[in-house]
Amino acid sequence: MELEAAVKGRRSIRKFTERKVPGLLIDEILDAARWAPSWGNTQPWEFTVLTGAPLAAFREANERMLSGGLAASPDVPMPEAWPSPLKERYGRMGRTILELMGIDRADREARNRLYARMAGLYGAPCLIVVAVPRDVAVEYALFDAGLVVQTICLLAHARGLGTCIMAAAVRYPDVLRKVASIPEERRIVAGIALGYPDPDCPLNRFERTRADAREIVHWAG
Ligand SMILES: Cc1cc2nc3c(=O)[nH]c(=O)nc-3n(C[C@H](O)[C@H](O)[C@H](O)COP(=O)(O)O)c2cc1C
Repeated sequence: MELEAAVKGRRSIRKFTERKVPGLLIDEILDAARWAPSWGNTQPWEFTVLTGAPLAAFREANERMLSGGLAASPDVPMPEAWPSPLKERYGRMGRTILELMGIDRADREARNRLYARMAGLYGAPCLIVVAVPRDVAVEYALFDAGLVVQTICLLAHARGLGTCIMAAAVRYPDVLRKVASIPEERRIVAGIALGYPDPDCPLNRFERTRADAREIVHWAG
């Protein structure tokens, strides 16, 4: 796949089919993703791939805790507020999803059902958990993790797979540690839901937006 088409064509997938992803394909993607750049070639990332029974156990626990209103305790703190214009962009994205699902913002029960679907990883048959060592300078380790995560998503997209990078998969890291034997020494950064996209679901088809280049590109000279 041509690079620009992959960059522009990758999108977050929020409904997956039940079709399993062959393990060899996942290995191939992670093997290629190792070539992402990192600070001083430190390559701080490690991956844990969940499928089958451990994934089902995690999905069930994640849904239960989110539905039960258990406070999140992620290894990487989640932002509580965004400044303008980030706040407006975030709000627009949330409204788009509610509208597509025909959910009234005031309908708390319907919103909770949507959050439960999210906690259930949108039905993805695979979750890649990305972690970095706990004892390294967190800012650049997270920078590097971001680079490898996007690389994974592009490589998956080029193979006809879909991904959703998910903070919602790492709200309760202790559960992930338990079901996937991830050591305490690793800081869990994000999850990548991986699978085959359901092409008919509106959540996988809506037109996404980006800030205009003139808003974010500043030339000096
Ligand atoms: C760090 C990070 C965390 C994210 N967490 C979630 C999540 O928990 N649930 C979700 O549905 N999407 C999540 N997303 C996906 C973003 O909402 C998405 O990337 C953004 O709206 C842009 O849309 P696109 O990926 O389709 O281009 C996350 C993305 C990033 C980079």
